[in-house]
Amino acid sequence: MENTKNNSHQNILGIESSCDDTSASILSNGNIYSNVIASQQVHEEFGGVVPEWASRKHQQNIIPTVKSALNKANLTLNEIDAIACTQGPGLMGSLLVGHTFVKGLSMSLGIPFVNVDHLDAHVFAHFIDGEKPPLPFLCLLVSGGHTQIVLVNENFEMQILGKTIDDAAGEAFDKAGKMLGLSYPSGPIIDNLAKEGNSRAFKFNTPNVDKLDYSFSGLKTSILYFLQKEMKENPNFIKQHLNDLCASIQHTIVSYLLLKLKKAMEETGVKSIGIAGGVAANSALRDSLTKLANDTGSKAYIPKFEYCTDNAAMIAFAGKIKLEQKQVGTLTDVCYTRK
Ligand code: KG4
Ligand code: ZN
Repeated sequence: MENTKNNSHQNILGIESSCDDTSASILSNGNIYSNVIASQQVHEEFGGVVPEWASRKHQQNIIPTVKSALNKANLTLNEIDAIACTQGPGLMGSLLVGHTFVKGLSMSLGIPFVNVDHLDAHVFAHFIDGEKPPLPFLCLLVSGGHTQIVLVNENFEMQILGKTIDDAAGEAFDKAGKMLGLSYPSGPIIDNLAKEGNSRAFKFNTPNVDKLDYSFSGLKTSILYFLQKEMKENPNFIKQHLNDLCASIQHTIVSYLLLKLKKAMEETGVKSIGIAGGVAANSALRDSLTKLANDTGSKAYIPKFEYCTDNAAMIAFAGKIKLEQKQVGTLTDVCYTRK
């Protein structure tokens, strides 16, 4: 769609609705002025995101979230120059709420919109503010739905060097948590409980997968069999060892993630490394990344906590880069569930 208002794109409204968080953000002259996130508690009792509930909640939340983002930035809709929106990957019903809303708003305001890839945006979180990594940059992207090692080249061209062949790292945290009787999402709960536990108390196996790829489904099975065996002998096993179990599971996931990142560093020779996505909020992963950088004479970059989990600030920022590259969306653009 042609920009009928102006070409400066000073005020960008970002919208994210790929999974279970509705988020709106204002990026103005390169700075984030608001980043409002409406989370959905409705999924907790189901132990995972229920797609139908997610889209219904996005519908209820999207207008109040956008209004709140505008208010916090002290702007009105008429002062917005362009809109950036998540196009995929994600849940189709969730994506459609945000994407269709943005197409309509863009038409009614006579301003352009830009499609943003959710995974690229997680990596872009590193460049929003604070110290920015030099390019080329190696980023471990770990979320509830994805696990990838991404090489960011000049002009933000992204190359996937490795990825999970089954479950994502966040899914491994969440499924392990479910087996331990923890609520959803379990990643942050495991992170907390692990602080009081011994990470060497129990040993779980991670599979040998080719090259820079990962596999997490085997870990899930090995945790399940281990717990079944122990609970048969002692029905209070999980309760008595919860902190140690959390610490050991977290240690297994984090070490496996960094093992492949280290391999990618050796193969590419890149010395600026980072983590992105919801699992990047994990304290053990953050500490271990810093240690890996120190041990290898590299530099670690970790985005602000609020830019790690799903948020619209990263969408607005990625949208700004795409607008600068003249990549504007059209009404025929469709959402996608996989990359
Ligand atoms: O990126 P994100 O917010 O949504 C997706 O695009 O998937 O990631 C959500 C995932 C969930 O699996 C959640 O358990 C995990 O990130 N997560 C964590 C932590 N905070 C969020 N995992 C481990 N430790 C944390 N502190
Ligand atoms: Zn995400």
